[in-house]
Amino acid sequence: MGMGSYQADSVLAQGLGWIDEQTRAITPPIHVSSTYLRDADNQYRSGRVYARDQNPAFDQAEAVLSKLEGAHQTLLFASGMAAATAVFQALQPGDHVLAPKVMYWSLRNWLMTFAVGWGLKVELIDMSDPQAVTAALQPGKTKLVWIETPANPLWMLTDIAATAQAAHAAGALLAVDSTVSTPILTQPLALGADIVMHAATKYLNGHSDLIAGTLGTRVDSEYWQRVRKVRAQVGGTLGSFEAWLLLRGMRTLHLRVRAACASAQKIAEHFNGHPLVAEVLYPGLPGFTGHAIAKAQMKGGFGGMMSIRAKGNAAVSGEAAAIAVAAHTQLWKRATSLGGTESLIEHRASVEGVGTPAPTDLLRLSVGIEHVDDLIGDMEQALVAAHA
Ligand SMILES: Cc1ncc(COP(=O)(O)O)c(C=O)c1O
Repeated sequence: MGMGSYQADSVLAQGLGWIDEQTRAITPPIHVSSTYLRDADNQYRSGRVYARDQNPAFDQAEAVLSKLEGAHQTLLFASGMAAATAVFQALQPGDHVLAPKVMYWSLRNWLMTFAVGWGLKVELIDMSDPQAVTAALQPGKTKLVWIETPANPLWMLTDIAATAQAAHAAGALLAVDSTVSTPILTQPLALGADIVMHAATKYLNGHSDLIAGTLGTRVDSEYWQRVRKVRAQVGGTLGSFEAWLLLRGMRTLHLRVRAACASAQKIAEHFNGHPLVAEVLYPGLPGFTGHAIAKAQMKGGFGGMMSIRAKGNAAVSGEAAAIAVAAHTQLWKRATSLGGTESLIEHRASVEGVGTPAPTDLLRLSVGIEHVDDLIGDMEQALVAAHA
């Protein structure tokens, strides 16, 4: 059943409406076999040989994501990092790639160490500036442009359609880390991107109990076949139980994302201009740089991620105030990661270390689905306690 023209909500709630043909079960069984029977005449009519990359446990979650993203095909990976690095491993040593200066720090580290050592020519630029993108593209040499929008931890926006056009004009592909926006708010492939990536660890699964990643492609291509080979050969694939958990988590993706967006908007507006807060960074604030792009390419909300910068005073620096705020929250949990039902707070510069673009007074907030008044109240008391 393809669920043809049904909305994302219906696709998600029913996991595309698939049932297990053998048992008529509404939720799928968890396939755990690592290998498949060869027919007596030496053929594999099941189409499956070995579970490293042909596990039926992947099929339904991949099909749901392809439907949501308008993708030709989706692949599950063992983590967001396994998915993201496969995009680069499918290139060739010597290829030039552009990536943002502000992006998920661990992938930036991998690019500047392992990928550079392996021979990729990685150039980090300001992806919120279309002129910087055009100037850095080297026609014929640049093979891939990687963007993250909104981008950790400052939530800078990149115009996906404009960047796709510029990349294609130079003969490069555009890959988008859409983890923060989720397929509920943005479909990068429809805006011209070639590859969409998610750390499924975050909103897609949504319950902070699983590490997973996904890649979707707009079209089949020689490049995509290399990505498939990277997954099959390197083997960064998901376990059967994790694939099943991901599918279960996705059944409520639309509800969770909309709730987080609504609360994040209220929280951002509440603390914007607050006497103990130096700045609120949130794409949904009309005064935020990039708000117009966010409005154009994020539909139905501006995401659940924001950062606030704590104000210092004569007695306490902004950094000390920020760390003290995190120490005093009770409902907001002090932890890294994002996109779960529970709200998280973290002093981002401490996590990212040397070279971080995060100001030392910045707290990254992942807004969950608790009652928004409780979240605001807890943050209020933590801000006051931090400055006492
Ligand atoms: C935007 C973004 N991309 C990629 C990743 C990597 O995902 P994973 O932790 O599943 O490897 C993360 C994880 O924090 C992320 O926030």
